[in-house]
Amino acid sequence: MDVIFSKNAFQGRHVVIIGGCGDIGMEIARQFQAAGASKIALVDINTELAKGSSFIPIQTDLSKVESIEEAVQDLYKISDKWHILVTTAGIFIGKTLLDCEANEWDSLMEINARAVFYFSKLIAKSMVQRKEGKIIHIGSGSTYYGTPGSGVYSASKVVINQLTQTMAVEWGPSNVQVNAVLPTVTETKFLEFVTKDPLHSKFRKKLKEKMPMGELLQPEDIAPLVLFLASKSANAINGAIIPIDGGSRLVST
Ligand SMILES: NC(=O)c1ccc[n+]([C@@H]2O[C@H](COP(=O)([O-])OP(=O)(O)OC[C@H]3O[C@@H](n4cnc5c(N)ncnc54)[C@H](O)[C@@H]3O)[C@@H](O)[C@H]2O)c1
Repeated sequence: MDVIFSKNAFQGRHVVIIGGCGDIGMEIARQFQAAGASKIALVDINTELAKGSSFIPIQTDLSKVESIEEAVQDLYKISDKWHILVTTAGIFIGKTLLDCEANEWDSLMEINARAVFYFSKLIAKSMVQRKEGKIIHIGSGSTYYGTPGSGVYSASKVVINQLTQTMAVEWGPSNVQVNAVLPTVTETKFLEFVTKDPLHSKFRKKLKEKMPMGELLQPEDIAPLVLFLASKSANAINGAIIPIDGGSRLVST
């Protein structure tokens, strides 16, 4: 990994990552650790990967409002100051709109949208009071397209774009900057469904051809921008929705 932040760039900073045990979340956690963050809490339904590390695991089902409240209480027992929140929890259900059921809509919205809103709100309250904070959401490049089989997932991720803008204007005056990073398809366990699904395999192949390097993204392509947005150097960046896609969204065919 290229080192763009010094070993103590985030010294004294407390970072919480929801969905932090996922592939993108873990890479972000590792890069914050390499840049000296003092505490890194990983909130996830599956915290196995955090075992044996110096990360703080907070096992939580983010689809439940009460669990989110308990997780935030636990976080405040560990520290009264969380400076940086990254939201990367997410699920995918790959179905066409005709096949997608109402309960699947609910599941996607609960985790990809409501959990992001509610967790951010609970953490931002203290950031706003202290007049200091950084929130970075992981949205999705799928919000630029109509992709067959991704409609409800993409709708849940559009919520992130709007939340980013409104959080930025509501909390920005209190020195809390909120931005979103929108990756396109990234090689993680999130993509396991693709191998089983011909519709998505076809999309993935087309997308790979549109990527300038002919390769899909890796978690290492996402994390550095998250760290930059969490740094003081990015204090003037607020409410930005930034794609990471090698420019593939601009290729028409
Ligand atoms: N991989 C991609 O192609 C891609 C592309 C664009 C955006 N994204 C977004 O990036 C984010 C991270 O995805 P990833 O690729 O690292 O996938 P991942 O599956 O490795 O990570 C997602 C994490 O969310 C956690 N999670 C899911 N449901 C949860 C729940 N109810 N409670 C608590 N935690 C829960 C999972 O346990 C997992 O650790 C997601 O928000 C996803 O929408 C991914």
